[in-house]
Amino acid sequence: MQADQTIRRIALAYSGGLDTSVMIPWLRAKYGSEVVAVVADVGQPEDFDAVQAKALATGATACEVVDLKEEFAADYLFPALRAGAIYEGRYMLGTALARPLIAKAQVEAALAHGCDALAHGCTGKGNDQVRFEVTYRTLAPDLGIVAPWREWDLRSREDEIAYAEAHGISISVTPEKPFSIDENLWHRSIEGGVLENPAVPPPEEIFQMTVDPAAAPDEPELVEISFERGLPTALDGAVLSPAALIEQLNQIAGSHGIGRVDIVESRLVGMKSRGVYETPAGTVLRAALRDLEALTLDHATAAFKEQVAIRYGELVYQGLWHSSLREALDAFIESSHRTVTGTVSVRLCKGSALAVGRCSPFTLYREDLATFGKDGVYDQEDAAGFIRLWGLPSEVRARVQAGPMHGRVMPGAAEPAAESGRDGPWAGRTRVGEAAGAR
Ligand code: ARG
Repeated sequence: MQADQTIRRIALAYSGGLDTSVMIPWLRAKYGSEVVAVVADVGQPEDFDAVQAKALATGATACEVVDLKEEFAADYLFPALRAGAIYEGRYMLGTALARPLIAKAQVEAALAHGCDALAHGCTGKGNDQVRFEVTYRTLAPDLGIVAPWREWDLRSREDEIAYAEAHGISISVTPEKPFSIDENLWHRSIEGGVLENPAVPPPEEIFQMTVDPAAAPDEPELVEISFERGLPTALDGAVLSPAALIEQLNQIAGSHGIGRVDIVESRLVGMKSRGVYETPAGTVLRAALRDLEALTLDHATAAFKEQVAIRYGELVYQGLWHSSLREALDAFIESSHRTVTGTVSVRLCKGSALAVGRCSPFTLYREDLATFGKDGVYDQEDAAGFIRLWGLPSEVRARVQAGPMHGRVMPGAAEPAAESGRDGPWAGRTRVGEAAGAR
């Protein structure tokens, strides 16, 4: 944002941490504007009254705490789960899915408070700045955007604290965390510190949602997940709101050490980064849903959905949640998943979540067709003709490559003439290499 542009009131996405706390006096000094702090509750464990008090004590004109948990679960997490969205095969997108919702709530608060600009606490090296700002531009293209991390010359924690004190603001500083952590209903993400060396295994103390799988109970636990049209509706038969279902399943799955991921990922802004994630409920729900899809989707639809899932995961990671492609992909998934209704039993044990039983009113599985026992519906003789046609392209290619006939015969065809084979099934054909021009 140009410093000479007049900004009267800025809505800041506020977390209560040191960075966004220092941003309140910094924005006021730099732009001579008021600051409205917007706090998004997406399920992170936090004392929101304390966060609000801190924002006001640090110089915010107002502080809005918005409870987004149910909207997050119902409108972001579950549709992404249904789509199979996952980034680079492993990351379940907990942070990437929260940003577009937090930014939307921030835009709504900004408009309600008559703000003329939006600010966030993301650095200039990460994906989150992109996700916030793409959402701002999509939902409120006329509001200005300020990214203090890209503008200020504060380089360290000490710089930040000194800046606040110089501006007459005392900030209650919590002990420095050795990691960059982002946490919500769906996951915890841990980056930085010793994790910046990708060769170093994650220290056990960074985990909070999951126990060490090796220390998890030896006794397996079965949970039953019910879905309607590809969206989770009940846990062990109890119908729950989306956020409540995730919260309860997080506890159960976390106690079995399920949902840890340790990856090197490709950031949107060019570099590789190392991230460690805990997504306990999400991991169980994904295992259950994939299993139910196997029961209720035909092969072609399921295979195409796998393509959609990859693209969906990429666009979420890349900050394009609020986009026409995402809506179009959701329309496909909504249609493909009309029959993905049913219940899956998942066995949880020492870090693994394995589907072990499934049923659906729309099951495509028919025991009378599949049985090894005697059946009255499937005529095994049909298989012979099917296989001849199914294998025909392979057979044709093999014969062409082998030269004329090789003394072999297509099943059911006339006997070839003994020598050339030219009178057999290939009579009158030009061989590859004999075509005009190839000679
Ligand atoms: N690398 C993950 C992502 O881009 C997590 C980012 C976590 N953000 C944070 N501020 N620590 O989605």
